[in-house]
Amino acid sequence: GDSLRALGAHQGLGIGTAVDMAHLGSDRNYTDIVADQFSVVTPENAMKWEAVEPTRGAHDWRPADQLVQFARQHGQSVRGHTLMWHNQLPAWLTTGVDNGTISDPQLREILHRHVTDEVGHFRGQVWQWDVVNEVFANSWDKALPNGLNSEDFWIRHLGEGIVADVFRWAHQADPKALLFYNDYNIAGQDGSNAKFTAVHDYVERLLAQGVPIDGIGEQGHLDTQYGFDPQRFQADLQSYADLGLKVAVTEADVRTFVNNATEQVPTSQLAAFAQPYEFSEMLKACQLVRQCVSFTAWGVYDGDSWIPGTFSGTGYGLLYDVDMRPKPAYFALRKDLALA
Ligand code: G3I
Repeated sequence: GDSLRALGAHQGLGIGTAVDMAHLGSDRNYTDIVADQFSVVTPENAMKWEAVEPTRGAHDWRPADQLVQFARQHGQSVRGHTLMWHNQLPAWLTTGVDNGTISDPQLREILHRHVTDEVGHFRGQVWQWDVVNEVFANSWDKALPNGLNSEDFWIRHLGEGIVADVFRWAHQADPKALLFYNDYNIAGQDGSNAKFTAVHDYVERLLAQGVPIDGIGEQGHLDTQYGFDPQRFQADLQSYADLGLKVAVTEADVRTFVNNATEQVPTSQLAAFAQPYEFSEMLKACQLVRQCVSFTAWGVYDGDSWIPGTFSGTGYGLLYDVDMRPKPAYFALRKDLALA
């Protein structure tokens, strides 16, 4: 066939999407696209801590289990997302830390428990885990000397060593899962390459210490109005790979200014062309780096994307439009996969 997943399979490349469990199973069109076009699925929210442990000690694995089961039925692999992140933490945890009922040593134990419980629950069923997400600084004033974000919730409370520890804990809970560090703007930035350099050098040191880290995920959240350098993107992925790591594009979307949030039509012809172009360049970079194992879009269609809610006035970021029709970006990816 000429689905994205079939074409990717010929090259051993996983083609993925983030999945919203509010739509999977209940929306026929959505469900068919996920099943037919993608070989890798990432829960957009269902494996995050607030989702799996809304009440302390009481887990709700149901939506995440449902996705894992769907993946098994459809011959898909799962990217687990994400174990240690400052966002979407359960309210009981953040409240407890704020009011002092959870001390830092207790917080460390709670995180250890969380990683062990969650990775253990899905043991043998998750291909790649985003173990640690977005702990590097985006500006120098917030960066520790090694580039970690001094204001990150986890770094502030538990210190820098927590990054290595969480990888060790995850490895203990599922020795076969591939363990990733995941972040945005860590490949392909034009101009200063500071965040790439920080992540690269930091992970190189972790590897030298024997920390079980298998891969780097560049999220790939692009905006057609900001600088994106395709050569740099490929070179940066290759540099990570040259450390002996796998790489993946984990959350690709390309946003542009749009007329309105309902229709999501780009306001300029240039943006309309840049959208599929940048998607295609990210995929081609992944195809050209032998260690790039998967390319994942962060959502199925423009009607269900985090973009308009976060960057108001922008949208049109995904492969299918608001009516779930394939867009030029979809056909661009299909062509890249077919030509390889
Ligand atoms: O679960 C509640 C629901 O109970 C409530 O009724 C509803 C009303 O707004 O909100 C729901 O929570 C929302 C959640 O998604 C689940 O749908 C949050 O408001 C919303 O903020 C949250 O957004 C997610 C965002 O991460 C939060 O940080 C996006 O869907 C998700 O796409 C986005 O994904 C992140 C990656 O995990 C990491 N990298 C960046 C990427 C984009 O921000």
